[in-house]
Amino acid sequence: MDPKVQQTPEREAFYREIDGENLTALWNVMGALITPEPKSACVPALWRFDAIRAHLMRAGALITAKEAERRVLILENPGLRGQSKITTSLYAGVQLVMPGEVAPAHRHSQSALRFVLEGKGAHTAVDGERTMMEPGDFVITPSMTWHDHGNGSADPIFWLDGLDIPVVQFLDASFAEGLGEDEQRISRPVGDSFARYGRNLLPVDLKRKSKTSPVFGYPYAETRAALERMKLADEWDPCHGLKLRYTNPVSGDYAMPTIGSFIQLLPKAFHGSRYRSTDATVIVPIEGRGRTRIGDTVLEWGPKDIFVVPSWQWFTHEAEGEAVLFSCSDRPIQEKLDLWREDRGNA
Ligand SMILES: [Fe+2]
Repeated sequence: MDPKVQQTPEREAFYREIDGENLTALWNVMGALITPEPKSACVPALWRFDAIRAHLMRAGALITAKEAERRVLILENPGLRGQSKITTSLYAGVQLVMPGEVAPAHRHSQSALRFVLEGKGAHTAVDGERTMMEPGDFVITPSMTWHDHGNGSADPIFWLDGLDIPVVQFLDASFAEGLGEDEQRISRPVGDSFARYGRNLLPVDLKRKSKTSPVFGYPYAETRAALERMKLADEWDPCHGLKLRYTNPVSGDYAMPTIGSFIQLLPKAFHGSRYRSTDATVIVPIEGRGRTRIGDTVLEWGPKDIFVVPSWQWFTHEAEGEAVLFSCSDRPIQEKLDLWREDRGNA
């Protein structure tokens, strides 16, 4: 009940009467529905990679990737337990594929991103093409594309999965099916998509309907080289250091229609200015150590840890040495709906 509205026996009798007809009075709930600022159940949280890694290695002995279909430990926000959500709109998990294993081919309407944490020599196949996976690589499996993962290397591979599952759930638009075979047929050589779309060139008569980038593997070597070159200009954003977004080269829009993905470099001893925005963000440091202050919470992070900054909470990043952060959020959705908002404090 809204505390502004007084309750009387007559009013309460009225509410009981209309309740039987599936009606309720707006004046009792309006304050909770339309809040002056975002009010989220999502809280700041951090997961240590070393701990997740150890649990996943145990899971590796308990269940095969094939039986599990995907051997993943879901990162559940402490404020959203039981909902398979890391933020209100995003799902995240850490996946393990052991040497020689295959995570079998399937497809679904949910879009997925992978950010590789440890291991190299494994691959993700999307629509007849494989992309190899190394630490820091960003890989996309677009909505309704067949995808499978295989590890032909001698070492386990771990990556972060980020999906728009809660968004698709909210919209009641989930479709999924298995291929019935472990691996899809490969029809294109490794690197074909990157050659066609990933080098500031596009096929001359390209007509493309998908809103997802045709570059489905963004190698960290390329991303890191871009940041390294930008450093030379010595122009730093007071909140973000150097921050870039992964794009769809065909449209210039975000690489995925529902999830924005970003990479940023914080210089040595960076002390960021405070910042807040309406897109709750999942952040993965891939290099360096530091801390992020979110309100009264201080999250100390190192390489491959995963943490969450909720919507509209002030935060600052601090780096010890140089640090590189990958991040993702629902910003593309909010921007398209004219909802996204940021506040840079005095910066
Ligand atoms: Fe999948």
